Amino acid sequence: MFNKCEAGADIVVAIPVLDILAVYDPAAFLNEAEQAQAQRFHQLEDSLRFQAAHVLKRILIGAVVGKATADLHFARAAGGKPFLLNAGPLDFNLSHGGDWVAVALSWTGRIGVDVESEREDDFWQEISSAIMAPMDVKNIGFLKRWTAKEAAIKANGAGLAIPLTEVVIDTTDSETFVAALPTERLSGTWRQLDAAHVLATVTDGNMVEICVCNSVSILKRILDLS
Ligand SMILES: CC(C)(COP(=O)(O)OP(=O)(O)OC[C@H]1O[C@@H](n2cnc3c(N)ncnc32)[C@H](O)[C@@H]1OP(=O)(O)O)[C@@H](O)C(=O)NCCC(=O)NCCS
Repeated sequence: MFNKCEAGADIVVAIPVLDILAVYDPAAFLNEAEQAQAQRFHQLEDSLRFQAAHVLKRILIGAVVGKATADLHFARAAGGKPFLLNAGPLDFNLSHGGDWVAVALSWTGRIGVDVESEREDDFWQEISSAIMAPMDVKNIGFLKRWTAKEAAIKANGAGLAIPLTEVVIDTTDSETFVAALPTERLSGTWRQLDAAHVLATVTDGNMVEICVCNSVSILKRILDLS
């Protein structure tokens, strides 16, 4: 059972794309720019992922800051990280990967989240030189390593301006890790969302509660909307 999500809670919410879109109509939540962006994707799946993530972003943030979703205004920082205008200490991040979307909120620090789906061995071999750092511990697979590094560069805010080969992941258990970036060390957590999807979240604030919503009714309970 999850706690109700409220102002001050450091939390990550993940939900399948099709579950959220079955209940919430993106046209009722996305602003003009977001709707225009949704039209620009060549693949329908990419557009649906984008719409689901931004619906979740607006519902979740609206609920915790106590504003109508239409009254939330966003901008991007120099490195590309989106932020909520007039948000006080709230930092947020979102990810759309495979069949899932996730939104992370932190009131105590910077936060990043990444969701990726499992791929064939060939894919990992092909991109391994872009992911592996010489000092990386060897006891984690590509999927966990990749999500951890992406979540770390997203928490930092620089995005791919920091090459993933310069982010070193160290871990001593299957759930938590430390990400060493060129300028800082950040703490992270993994969560297996289903057989094919892994989520990683990284922060320099408090550890976050990860809420995996397998249905919109769980999401509504967390948001106290049921
Ligand atoms: C941020 C980045 C790691 C995204 O990773 P990804 O696994 O491809 O995609 P995800 O779905 O997990 O995350 C995408 C979201 O991250 C957020 N994001 C974008 N730039 C970010 C940054 N610098 N820091 C943190 N979050 C960022 C956005 O909300 C974006 O979603 P949106 O465009 O729908 O708003 C990577 O794409 C990136 O660095 N992008 C920004 C810079 C860029 O586009 N460079 C390309 C040429 S240099």
